[in-house]
Amino acid sequence: MLEGASNDHYLNHPCRRIRAYVRRKPFNDVGNRCFCHSSNLVLLNINDIPIATAAIIVIAIVFIAFTGLEKDAARPLSPDLISGISNSLFGHGKYGISYTAYNDDGTCKTQDQVDSDMAQLRQFAFVRFYGVDCNQAQTISKAARGNNMQVFAGVFDIQNMNNDLQKIIDAADGDWSTFHTVSVGNELVNRGQSSPAEVIGAVNSARNRLRQAGYQGPVVTVDTFNQIIAHPELCDASDYCAANCHAFFDSNQTAENAGPYVLEQARQVSQAMKDGNKGVIITETGWPSAGEANGAAVPSRHNQIVALKSLKQSFPDGGVVFFSAFNEKWKQDNAWTFGTEKNWGLFDFSDTKDAISEILNPLKGNGV
Ligand SMILES: *[C@@H]1O[C@H](CO)[C@@H](O)[C@H](O)[C@H]1NC(C)=O
Repeated sequence: MLEGASNDHYLNHPCRRIRAYVRRKPFNDVGNRCFCHSSNLVLLNINDIPIATAAIIVIAIVFIAFTGLEKDAARPLSPDLISGISNSLFGHGKYGISYTAYNDDGTCKTQDQVDSDMAQLRQFAFVRFYGVDCNQAQTISKAARGNNMQVFAGVFDIQNMNNDLQKIIDAADGDWSTFHTVSVGNELVNRGQSSPAEVIGAVNSARNRLRQAGYQGPVVTVDTFNQIIAHPELCDASDYCAANCHAFFDSNQTAENAGPYVLEQARQVSQAMKDGNKGVIITETGWPSAGEANGAAVPSRHNQIVALKSLKQSFPDGGVVFFSAFNEKWKQDNAWTFGTEKNWGLFDFSDTKDAISEILNPLKGNGV
């Protein structure tokens, strides 16, 4: 099933070993920096410990009931249950949005620019960013705080982790209330950049460091859903399962089916876990507005809206980070991105951004 989730083009590609899941180029070299994009979604709010504790107890009972029925093979985990998990554990019915603080030419956005971007994204519960270069930990967390949002902060480079963590610790400056999650790496295993054991070591070490600095929230690593299914220990080491999943990169998927497809992959991730209590958050999902078709998966502005509606329907209560806030012209396409790499932004076009905002509003239905 894991392999089946990849696209045919990719399945036959010699680089498949490295890139087990066809997707947008996950990182990019601009100057000497290595960037990655991502976004993140509704999470466990540490301010709601009593609710979370009650939810964990309820979920534990439900899971014990389920696992009691079928020890292995197909555990009967319904989509409703998944969305129930997201709702109770992570939910105030809110979504996350991914964001990078770079200009089209790869230079750093200023605090004013980040402030103005964040003001447009304030309907989201939190903003996911991928690394701490460009002073992003400071600028984005400041802007998020000003808009009553949280941040899903990312350490991009685990070789340089302590420095990067220090920037996050400095940005928090003793007040962790703005921090929804700290993630260590984005698709490192999928990219063939680190082994699962290296990533797990980094997550554990980052968690220790962050706890010493007073952060009690979730620490996770993010990888593609198929890598997490293949290496469930990545999720075991994380405080919840953080999986990126894009229906577009499966050549059998249409925009209409994006939601059910991603929900099914979330279900597969959940089933791969020994610990049935672990929540699953889809830390990236979306649809490109332009580029080449990948089989049945066709990029267009119309299909982007169709896919977002479908995703909203499948994840009505949250548990999803939409990818991404704005088109990212600083990125480069490669052989696996179908010319879409720069075109995943949701809020670039004045004639569609209100409709998209309406679709993704967690308090409303799915109408446009
Ligand atoms: C797409 O569907 C066909 C027919 O069911 C199947 O043979 C193929 O493996 C599928 N491709 C992917 C990438 O899942």
